[in-house]
Amino acid sequence: MILLKTREEIELIRESATLLSKTLAEVGRHIRPGVTTAYLNQIGEQYIRDNGAEPLCKGYEGFPAAFCVSVNDVVVHGIPGNLFLNEGDNVTLDCVIKLNGYVSDSAYTFAVGEISPEVQRLMKTTKEALYIGINQCKAGNRIGDISHAVQQHCEKNGYSVVRELCGHGVGFKMHESPSVPNFGVKGTGPLLKEGMVICIEPMVCMGSKNVKFSRTDGWTCRTKDGKPAAHYEHTVAVGNNGPEILTTFDFIEQQ
Ligand code: MF3
Ligand code: CO
Repeated sequence: MILLKTREEIELIRESATLLSKTLAEVGRHIRPGVTTAYLNQIGEQYIRDNGAEPLCKGYEGFPAAFCVSVNDVVVHGIPGNLFLNEGDNVTLDCVIKLNGYVSDSAYTFAVGEISPEVQRLMKTTKEALYIGINQCKAGNRIGDISHAVQQHCEKNGYSVVRELCGHGVGFKMHESPSVPNFGVKGTGPLLKEGMVICIEPMVCMGSKNVKFSRTDGWTCRTKDGKPAAHYEHTVAVGNNGPEILTTFDFIEQQ
């Protein structure tokens, strides 16, 4: 069942989403060669709690940290630890918080120092795919319109999209209906209605779409071919006249 949100509820999700957006920017300021992924998680978790919110990834189905921190060939669900960032890495911060009972979810892939033009192009295309998907977020469209738009943009640029993981409804819980795949067919899937709040989150591989999950920790999702991946995510409300993006990358990109 897809739970619709009232105008008031959407404004409360926006408050959660604004704090989450500031959180990603705060942690992003500490990304540099020589810091560990655990250090980034620690700074972020403190910031979330200092601002009266709760990090929902921590403890979610046993996930041990507030942030997923995914480096290079790790697509998503990297567990923060004693891994040091190096110049030229790409690192994704993915975080979900609850503020005053309302849940938001966002992710951003950062460059560590100078990165190769190839990875820069992957990141740029992935972020473009996110906004192209968001453009389809209007009442009367279907989930497949978002999925198709994201897939098309990535594949026409020579990249592939992960099949195993999808975007999702959000707002009252981390994962609600509907599922929002990054691949699909126009005009198919659930109908978008005003008041739906969803996460759109292209997970894009430079090489093949195939991924594997770590046998030791059960979480870390890597590309099978070892090539880099990127991941951007926004929490978006479906409006009658178009999308309302509740998270923002402005705090990251204006610093
Ligand atoms: N933020 C992610 C998502 O889009 C990942 C959550 S996995 C968790 O669903 F275990 F860390 F919570
Ligand atoms: Co998500």
